[in-house]
Amino acid sequence: MRMKLEFVLIGVLLLVFTAACNSNENTGQLEFIDKLNALRREFAKNNNIVNMHELSFDQNLMNKSKTMDSTGRFVEYRYTFIGSFSNGVNELMNSSTSFEQKSEQEKVEAIDNATTIEDLSFEHLTPGHTKIGCTKSTMGKILCLLAPDGNLSSWFKAAGDAGSLCMSGYKNVNGLCSITPKTSISIPQNHRTPPVPTTAKTELDRQIAKYKNEEQDGDEYDEDFPTTIIASSAILVSPVMTVVFVVLVSI
Ligand SMILES: *[C@@H]1O[C@H](CO)[C@@H](O)[C@H](O)[C@H]1NC(C)=O
Ligand SMILES: *[C@@H]1O[C@H](CO)[C@@H](O)[C@H](O)[C@H]1NC(C)=O
Ligand SMILES: *[C@@H]1O[C@H](CO)[C@@H](O)[C@H](O)[C@H]1NC(C)=O
Ligand SMILES: *[C@@H]1O[C@H](CO)[C@@H](O)[C@H](O)[C@H]1NC(C)=O
Repeated sequence: MRMKLEFVLIGVLLLVFTAACNSNENTGQLEFIDKLNALRREFAKNNNIVNMHELSFDQNLMNKSKTMDSTGRFVEYRYTFIGSFSNGVNELMNSSTSFEQKSEQEKVEAIDNATTIEDLSFEHLTPGHTKIGCTKSTMGKILCLLAPDGNLSSWFKAAGDAGSLCMSGYKNVNGLCSITPKTSISIPQNHRTPPVPTTAKTELDRQIAKYKNEEQDGDEYDEDFPTTIIASSAILVSPVMTVVFVVLVSI
């Protein structure tokens, strides 16, 4: 009986460990996406882009990036590369700065050219994208697919107030068309925090950092993908906990 109990305990530890590793890997990606959303918001505000949308993690795109499946490229999705999740936004910030410095005419040309050649320097700023999924490619870089604006048509909107032209299901939160929150929790309001969170460590920190970027809104809180990770880890662990409980009871 004692042996059995030890095996069960080792099993529980392994499962908890695996779940923790998976969620760390995903948290790296989710933190990257949050920082990228902060960059998109700043870019929209600086350039009067009316239709910049919040990106959310998409499992389908991540799967597609894993297989390097190119069907739908430049039609349903576009892509970019980063070196790491932790520094990815800094890398992208450098290339988007060069785009930002172009004249209006050059921007239009660069966008036109990008539908035929692979100019990757501003894919991450395409306003109409709402989904992203990344994976480490065989070249050691991280490949990120962005969707759905495969032909870049969302760039061609008249300038105006950032966040004033959102798709349905999105609303303007401080210049970024953001996913309409499903639930609300209360977090103390904190105005004028730096736009790019760099210290988010735990999932809760990440959520708080994300919340702070959306500073305008007093009391709403997004519940999206990360909650699912936590929930699925819990589901993974709970049947084993039940077994432990049964074993303990039967001793
Ligand atoms: C992604 O791929 C995994 C396995 O590689 C599969 O279990 C999962 O269903 C896929 N998800 C989607 C949304 O395609
Ligand atoms: C970004 O540009 C700055 C200044 O030009 C440079 O010092 C820095 O190394 C660049 N960062 C990346 C990640 O390329
Ligand atoms: C776009 O492509 C045309 C023709 O290849 C080229 O002359 C022009 O310099 C390109 N513009 C930009 C901004 O890359
Ligand atoms: C770009 O894609 C959108 C949506 O798929 C479509 O409605 C539009 O006609 C396309 N524009 C061009 C120029 O191909």
